[in-house]
Amino acid sequence: MRISFCCSNTKPEPWLAGFRAALPQVDIEVWAPGAPLADYAVVWSPPQQFLDEQTQLRALFNIGAGVDALLKLRLPAQAQLVRLGDAGMSVQMAEYVCHALIRHFRELDAYEADVAHGKWSYRKPRSRADWPVGIMGLGVLGERVARSVAQFEFPVMGWSRSPRQVDGVRCFAGEAQFSDFLAASKVLVCLLPLTADTQNIMRRETLSQLQPGGYVINVARGAHLVDEDLIALLDEGHLAGAMLDVFREEPLPAGHPFWQHPKITVTPHTSARTLRDETIAQIAGKIEAMQRGEPVSGVVDVKRGY
Ligand code: NAP
Ligand code: GLV
Repeated sequence: MRISFCCSNTKPEPWLAGFRAALPQVDIEVWAPGAPLADYAVVWSPPQQFLDEQTQLRALFNIGAGVDALLKLRLPAQAQLVRLGDAGMSVQMAEYVCHALIRHFRELDAYEADVAHGKWSYRKPRSRADWPVGIMGLGVLGERVARSVAQFEFPVMGWSRSPRQVDGVRCFAGEAQFSDFLAASKVLVCLLPLTADTQNIMRRETLSQLQPGGYVINVARGAHLVDEDLIALLDEGHLAGAMLDVFREEPLPAGHPFWQHPKITVTPHTSARTLRDETIAQIAGKIEAMQRGEPVSGVVDVKRGY
């Protein structure tokens, strides 16, 4: 059995060593044009040429959760596309979102600014009841985030494509309930996959339905958000702030208004990183299962887009 490793911007050696330790019977090599055909591939942003050559591939393992970039390419028709399922990402996402929420809710930036000026100040405590948090996407990451936010006793709303039930979360589903979901939320967290249906989902028309003083946390993909609409709603005062981890163009170009906007906090696509050991263990386990003829979780529905 042969595995081809084709991950851009990724140092291959530790990955190869990890896979060789986990699957000693397997041949794993970094792909180069014309390399022997593989049975399985481990990929991140592979070139089209790689995909075109893979005529005997059984599965393509993406070392991330989001497959939007891969779905823009022509995939080998016979291969299953398998996304990463958690592998240590959901706890990171929960940390990031809870941090962003609590930092804003508790006005920690304002305290930090006061302290920097030697000022001992108090702000009026806020009521959690006035800060309902709406989470778009209740999948692997969204559900974990929703449960974590609920632990801090914020009212939590969740929105998904199909109806879901999550303890402590008021769940909405589908387009028909989207406006009710937005109107019930003051903080909006985006954890949707990027698909034709979800592109530009955070725009003036939708963001203006959030409760006044709203706060936006985008940890999914930059193309979910219409940048100019966010800035306009912040400048007009309908929204109070935003914490953004993902952008239409990454790295965020120098001179983009997000860098300097006083109500926006930027992080460099780091809210939930791929963790090598967890990822290798998950993919190796799935390859073994597929070799035994068993089904695996995380197979992408290419038509649906996630
Ligand atoms: P997932 O398990 O596939 O869950 C996706 C959720 O979105 C599901 O609840 C799904 O509804 C819902 N959804 C999809 N299309 C929808 C629509 N049109 N309307 C309403 N709800 C819709 O995905 P995940 O693992 O939680 O990851 C979510 C995204 O996070 C990834 O696709 C990736 O882009 C992003 N991500 C970012 C980072 C980072 O570091 N910033 C790291 C990892 C992942 P159903 O439950 O009905 O299917
Ligand atoms: C990162 O953005 C991922 O999709 O895993």
